[in-house]
Amino acid sequence: AVTTELGKQTQLTEVAGILLQTATVGNWSQIQNFEAKPDDLLICTYPKSGTTWIQEIVDLIEQNGDVEKCQRALIQHRHPFIEWARPPQPSALVLCRCFLSNHFKGVEKAKAMPSPRILRTHLPTHLLPPSFWESNCKFLYVARNAKDCMVSYYHFQRMNQMLPDPGTWDDYFETFISGKVGWGSWFDHVKGWWEMKDRYQILFLFYEDIKKDPKHEIQKVIQFMGKNLDETVLDKIVQETSFEKMKENPMTNRSTIPKSILDQSISPFMRKGTVGDWKNHFTVAQNERFDEIYRKKMEGTSINFCMEL
Ligand code: A3P
Repeated sequence: AVTTELGKQTQLTEVAGILLQTATVGNWSQIQNFEAKPDDLLICTYPKSGTTWIQEIVDLIEQNGDVEKCQRALIQHRHPFIEWARPPQPSALVLCRCFLSNHFKGVEKAKAMPSPRILRTHLPTHLLPPSFWESNCKFLYVARNAKDCMVSYYHFQRMNQMLPDPGTWDDYFETFISGKVGWGSWFDHVKGWWEMKDRYQILFLFYEDIKKDPKHEIQKVIQFMGKNLDETVLDKIVQETSFEKMKENPMTNRSTIPKSILDQSISPFMRKGTVGDWKNHFTVAQNERFDEIYRKKMEGTSINFCMEL
């Protein structure tokens, strides 16, 4: 992998046409051979679609609304990230060894976890370890509209020193629509999971719906997880998982990650948390072009996104 003087890893590697982190690809056979269990719940998202948000919601449900129990670990360590593998440690990152040493391979962390396990992935359906399908696990997919996703991913690549530099907004617009970003094309990812939703146990949620009516959407998750919580607990989960609360919460806002990895002075991890920020980034011409591409790429799917609230 190419490393800049700041330790920025600028290379992703392709697997079956999908760009993934080079360390993930290096561990690919172990990831593909991962043994899922029938009582696993897998949180699935395309990057920047509200993964952290749904993780905190799921954890609070699992812990019956006990906020202290959710403080037991950083959010990124609570649910093993199946395809995560420790990146190589260039000399510029020596100071971060302490941080990195807490990062095991996602598959190893998952293996060590007692059941029932809650795991997470950004993998598209065709790259998921086959045992997840064979074990008929529960999948919780959160989709976010492509335009806001693109904006969020752009700012994330600006601040994440482990990902390629996104270039200008105009450059990134082209990169994103061509699918040459980590975890591949938004279009294929969302279409793939949408098409699976009636064949497997998949609760398919939308970021925009959670934003609009968190109580209603969280109730769906509670039911899907087979839990039964009082209305007061549900209200508490709604409050605890608001953007404002999670932005202040050191267990969810990534503030403990060194600046050499996530530079939050460039753009905070908990950036805006809104629907429709794309309007502050897309030019009129880009918007028209995007709508045309969207129409073609999503032709034949029944999925519908809300673009503003
Ligand atoms: P923005 O960059 O648009 O602010 P992921 O966790 O998949 O990386 O997604 C990150 C995106 O989800 C960021 O979007 C972040 O602000 C948003 N997000 C995280 N927690 C949220 C919450 N509680 N409410 C709304 N958005 C949230």
